[in-house]
Amino acid sequence: MNYTYSQLPQVEKTEQERSERIFFKDVIEGLTSNPKRLQSKYFYDQAGDVLFQEIMNSPEYYPTNCELEIFTKQCGLLAKAISCKGDDFDLVELGAGDATKTNFLLAYLIDQGIKFTYKPIDISENIINYLSSTLPLLLPGIKIEALNGDYLDMLSKAATGSKKRKVVLLLGANIGNMSIAEAAAFCREIREILSCGDMLLVGADLRKNPHTILAAYNDKEGTTKKFNLNLLTRINRELGANFDIDSFDHFPSYDPQTGACKSFLVSLKKQIVQIGSTAIPFLKDEIIDMEISQKYTLEDTRALAKASGFIPIADFYDQKNWFLDTLWLASE
Ligand code: AVJ
Repeated sequence: MNYTYSQLPQVEKTEQERSERIFFKDVIEGLTSNPKRLQSKYFYDQAGDVLFQEIMNSPEYYPTNCELEIFTKQCGLLAKAISCKGDDFDLVELGAGDATKTNFLLAYLIDQGIKFTYKPIDISENIINYLSSTLPLLLPGIKIEALNGDYLDMLSKAATGSKKRKVVLLLGANIGNMSIAEAAAFCREIREILSCGDMLLVGADLRKNPHTILAAYNDKEGTTKKFNLNLLTRINRELGANFDIDSFDHFPSYDPQTGACKSFLVSLKKQIVQIGSTAIPFLKDEIIDMEISQKYTLEDTRALAKASGFIPIADFYDQKNWFLDTLWLASE
């Protein structure tokens, strides 16, 4: 529980111990760097999953509904584009979540008698257990192999485990949680795991009225604020820290010039937070960089495809043109 660098358990008995150690290392590294930062991938513990569901149900948060519209209204076109070769393929989803959107595509593919295996990958163990137990009930006849862990580790596992053509889904603007440079490196890594002829469907939240974007990350109910603060609660619980949650505020921001939508926490006073035996000093008004949700132009997505070794072959927009699911082919 209360680790320090010098007191790491010598032998890790469980996967949980390993991930807790990495969590500890990432938190200490992030909070001892300048500016302080935490990684948004750690938002998703049990409470974080629930808060993210609440965000998706808030009136201000549009991306999920936009992408859902693409998956409901253009399901046939999507299915056709990814199954064009008529072969049995692996449909790998990075960050599957509750797979609400993907369900429409899965149901359609099954209904059309198209052969595929659904391989959802998620960092949340909760989600993976949920998908493995409920999808076979919701979609009888589905072939599913759910993988819990890091996206690229699990994608490699899926790629070495089967020779079938891969169609990889990276939906929900998950790519947005990286800077454009990090996204390019990430897509490059995906490309290296994939083979020529494999496909990647990338969901990108497009630039639009800055008020609309900022409001989506600053909901009136304060759920996004809770979602950010919940990571401090998680660190308290899992790493034996003593963050006083009320001494931190949430500061959302959007820069329409760069398309970077960023969330910060602000220390409301000079304070020292203890994480295990490590003391982390905060100045009054010092910030923690919590999350980026990068907004894209079509050209940004084209550049990203090119930089990472893919050729765009089809684009799917919602009716408002607020969101884009762009299908890429792995090229030579
Ligand atoms: C899950 C990464 C798509 O950035 O829009 C929502 C997470 N953060 N509100 C996003 C999130 C704050 C979300 N993604």
